[in-house]
Formats: sequence, C-alpha cells, structure tokens
Amino acid sequence: MDKFVIRGGNPLLGTVRISGAKNSALPCMAAAILTEDEVTLENIPQVRDIETERRLLVSMGAEVELGYGRAQHRTKICCRTLSDPEAKYEIVKTMRASSLVLGPLIARCGMARVAMPGGCAIGGRPIDLHIKGLEKMGAVITQEHGYLEARAERLRGAHLVFDKITVTGTEDLLMAAVLADGETLMENCAREPEVTDLAALLNAMGARIEGAGTSTIRVHGVTSLHGARYRINPDRIEAGTFLIAGAITGGDLIVANCEPDHLGALIAKLEELGVRVDHLGPDSVRVRSEGHLRAADISTEEYPGFPTDMQAQYMALATQAEGVSQIKENIFENRFMHVQELVRMGANIKVDGKVATVRGATRLSSAAVMCSDLRASASLVLAALIADGESILDRVYHMDRGYERIEEKLRGVGAQIRRLGNIFTPRDEESAVHSD
Ligand code: UD1
Repeated sequence: MDKFVIRGGNPLLGTVRISGAKNSALPCMAAAILTEDEVTLENIPQVRDIETERRLLVSMGAEVELGYGRAQHRTKICCRTLSDPEAKYEIVKTMRASSLVLGPLIARCGMARVAMPGGCAIGGRPIDLHIKGLEKMGAVITQEHGYLEARAERLRGAHLVFDKITVTGTEDLLMAAVLADGETLMENCAREPEVTDLAALLNAMGARIEGAGTSTIRVHGVTSLHGARYRINPDRIEAGTFLIAGAITGGDLIVANCEPDHLGALIAKLEELGVRVDHLGPDSVRVRSEGHLRAADISTEEYPGFPTDMQAQYMALATQAEGVSQIKENIFENRFMHVQELVRMGANIKVDGKVATVRGATRLSSAAVMCSDLRASASLVLAALIADGESILDRVYHMDRGYERIEEKLRGVGAQIRRLGNIFTPRDEESAVHSD
C-alpha cells in the first residue's frame, strides 16, 4: 500500500494551481445520465473518485472517455443506451457519492437499482432524505438484499422540504426534478457551490432551474435534456488545504486558479489567527505567515459556514496557535479520527463529544501515522510538513480519492515529500473505505 514519506521544516514558497472540484465533478458526471446526447465536462480532477464514477457509468452501459494531460482533464460521457441501470455494491462501497445516480436513473429510465451505501469512516450517513423526496415525487421504492429498487413511469413535481440540509441529497433530487412532470419546489436546500455548479450544467442541458445557491430552488420540469459542454469550478477544499499548508509552514504561497469567493469562512478564520491573506485578482490568493498564530475557535456548518471538509486540516493548524482553540464538528458524528494521530505527533488535543479542544502551540515530532479518511489524511500531511524529522503516512489511497497529485504539487513549492509505491494500485482500490 502506498505511503508518503515527508520531512518537515520547509516553508512553502511559490505558486500552486488548484484542480477542478471533485464534489462538483461527481454530480455533473451523474447528470449525463439525463440525456441521450454527449456531455463534455472540462477541468475534471485526476483523482480516484472520478475513476470510480467512470467505472460506475460504464457498468451501466455508458460510453465514457476520460482524458488527462493534453486532453486537458476532459471527460466526454454519452448515455445513449443505459442497458443496466444499476449501481453495484462493489462500486458504491468505495464511494458513497455513487448514490447520486439514483435520481437521474429514475428520471431517465423509470427505474433504478442502487446498493445501499452502508456505514462510512466518518459516520452513519444515511440516504433517507433522498428516498423520502423521490417517494414524494411518485417513485415506489423497495429495499431488498442491500439494494434499493425504485420505479416511476414519470416522476411528478412536488413540494419538498428537507428535514436536514444535505448536499448530495439536494443534488440527487434536483436531477430527479428536472425531467419531472410539473414544478418542484425544494426548500431547505444545500447552498454549496457544488450545487450551483450542477444546476448551471443542468440549465446548459436545457433544464429550467431557479434559485440554486439559495435555500429555495424551483424547478420547472421539461420533457428532455440535450448535450452540453461545461467547465467544473475549482476545488475549494483543495484550495483551502493549500492555504493552510502555506500558513502552517510559515511560507509565502500563491494559491492560483481558485475561487476566493468560495473560501470566505476559512480566509476570515485564517486572518483571525494572524495569517496574512491577500487577494490577487479574481482567481488567486496569496497566503503568508511568520508564525505567532493566535488560537481561534471554529464550528463546522453548511455553506457558507466553515466546511466540515476543512475541519481536520484546521486542527493541524490550531496545534501551532498560541492558546486554546475549540473545534466543534456539527455535520458528522465521527470526524475526529485524525486526533489520535496528531496526538501521537505531539499535539495536545482532547475530544469531548462534538468538541475537540486544542492547546497550543506545541512542537510536532515526526512519526509513522495512519490515514483514516480523505480529509484526515490531509491533516496528517500538514502536520508532517512542520514536524521535525521524517514522518511516514500509511494508507494514502484515501488522499488519492480527492487530491490530484498532491505530492507533486507540494514538492513544486518546496516540500520534501515522496511516495513509496504506485498511485492507484488495484490492491488499494479493494481495501479503500469511502469517507466524503
Ligand atoms: C457532501 C460532500 C462531503 C461533505 C458533506 C458535507 C460530496 C460527494 N460529498 O457529502 O465532502 O463532507 O457534503 O458538506 O459532495 N444526512 C441524513 N440523511 C440523508 C442525507 C444526509 O441524515 O439522506 C445527514 C448526514 O448523515 C450528515 C448530514 O446530513 O450528518 C450532511 O450530509 P450530506 O450533506 O448529505 O453529505 P454528503 O452529501 O454525503
């Protein structure tokens, strides 16, 4: 299994370019199910989850071209024939976002068979809200042998109010609603930029969606959608991870090709800590720090609040801030698995229920540590970048799920990091457990 070997101590200097958003690309690829025409997506990140989604679509009968490098991170998807509208357990178990095909499959094929995602490293993560919404739109859903079977000749528009804000739930039902008969009013929707990205693609395909990016979305159902070409927005979590990498190493880093407007909560918090953040034009941010950080509390919330997907990385930074930082995780019940590993590196962190209390600043020392999920891995990479000595991070396949060539990008700005093993090995694939 691949490992990272990281020698800490180098400030990160220079410019790093951010890839496309994994969490936008996944629903946008699923949206291609809704049309017989070709959908072309640009700025697709080269990460394992995208490869998993490609396999999922191909297993249903879609044609998917996925090209990187000179092909400019582009995918062309054609779902003219979907001979097997089923998301198999073997694929769903490695990537929970596979449940995103449920809504589009029912809308397009009148039926879907999707494996229940089951538990996950960071919490229970049910899909009851997806099911409830689809039933309200007329789908008949049964559950057997670990699979959901859904049927509906044509979904009908409905008034949906989410009991809880869910990102992929909003996306799944949005994709179901675009081909439904009549109008769907969705309330208490997720406002994440990834929902807005998906809605922009769907509208480019001929859908009639208003209000994406707000908590109320109105969809006027249409009878068919056509092909489109769409460019995925930059990944705000990758950008945020690099902002923290610049800050934690006392570096001077330009994070280019990002969307600063999507990073508001994080940037405000970095400034509170004493990190200098400057906007350099519409798509670049410069981060500088000379140490002397002050502790600041965070509480994870839905967008535009502080993202749960940045909580683990922020905790690594909090170990370097003077004073007590309280980190409250409100979205997932089991998202503190990085804590024990950070403590093994010398951090002073106590967890009580939803709250982790970090006392800093502490010197971190290198250690052999284990990555437990995607963002926890990022947190350990950040800690290793400042630990004295050489750290070895095991199970970095978690990192490969969502960060494109992270070690190359980090090396490019001065980090000492190398990989032992090969990227994307089949053995890793089998043992991968999904997180976000
Ligand atoms: C998405 C992101 C993930 C991020 C998360 C929260 C993708 C592929 N993943 O995950 O990176 O961490 O948003 O920002 O976009 N819930 C229910 N019932 C449901 C659905 C969700 O109770 O049917 C609960 C979950 O258990 C969780 C909360 O709602 O406590 C939010 O989850 P949700 O927004 O659905 O997360 P994902 O969309 O899976």
